[in-house]
Amino acid sequence: MERLDKFLSDSGAGTRSQVKLLLKAGRVSVDGKPEKDPGKKIEPGKNLVFLDGAPMGGYQRRVVIMNKPAGFVTATEDSVEKTVMELLPEQMRHWDLKPVGRLDKQTEGLLLFTNDGDLLHRLISPKKEVPKIYYARHEGTASPEDVQSFAAGLTLRDGTECLPALLEPIGPGESRVTVREGKYHQVRRMMASRNMTVLYLERIQEGNLTLSGLPRGQVRELTEKELLSIEP
Ligand code: URA
Repeated sequence: MERLDKFLSDSGAGTRSQVKLLLKAGRVSVDGKPEKDPGKKIEPGKNLVFLDGAPMGGYQRRVVIMNKPAGFVTATEDSVEKTVMELLPEQMRHWDLKPVGRLDKQTEGLLLFTNDGDLLHRLISPKKEVPKIYYARHEGTASPEDVQSFAAGLTLRDGTECLPALLEPIGPGESRVTVREGKYHQVRRMMASRNMTVLYLERIQEGNLTLSGLPRGQVRELTEKELLSIEP
């Protein structure tokens, strides 16, 4: 049994206070009878709840992928900066989504969101070792010694030790970097420790997931196939 206002909110009908207004306006019915009490107890899957004649399904797990543009911070709120939440379409703002890990303000590319706390923790845990692949443009050009030092697990200028990572030079001032953890400014700091200041950074892959044509600044739900691919 759960409260009707929570059930409606979990169904994506709005925040708890928005839902209270919907109830007050008589737009909700339970088993065919109008219902105005936000605290009414209902049994999901048994009682039939409708909003404006549309059936409400209760909690649904949501996983969303964004192609993040530069200039937005990864946070649910910020008093100064624009946040990635502002890029979510109106309908998704009621889904209680949280960003999975973090991309810096200037970093672009693949960023996941979910309302499933367990999934979130599985995806960001270094123990699960989900590889994250970045494309970087940088000063200098990666040498075989740089590649070797990434592979051995390098030590940042402040003494922080990193897990072994893959550095793949693509050409002058361009590399691909694969890491399995998400320390603060990790890729920028790893590159800086080898005197290759990063000028542009984009996450292009997380596990098996890629942006596969999603335009910059756009968001969509994962497909069924993609959902299966992120399950450990
Ligand atoms: N590493 C960084 O330095 N920045 C990011 O946004 C992600 C990884």
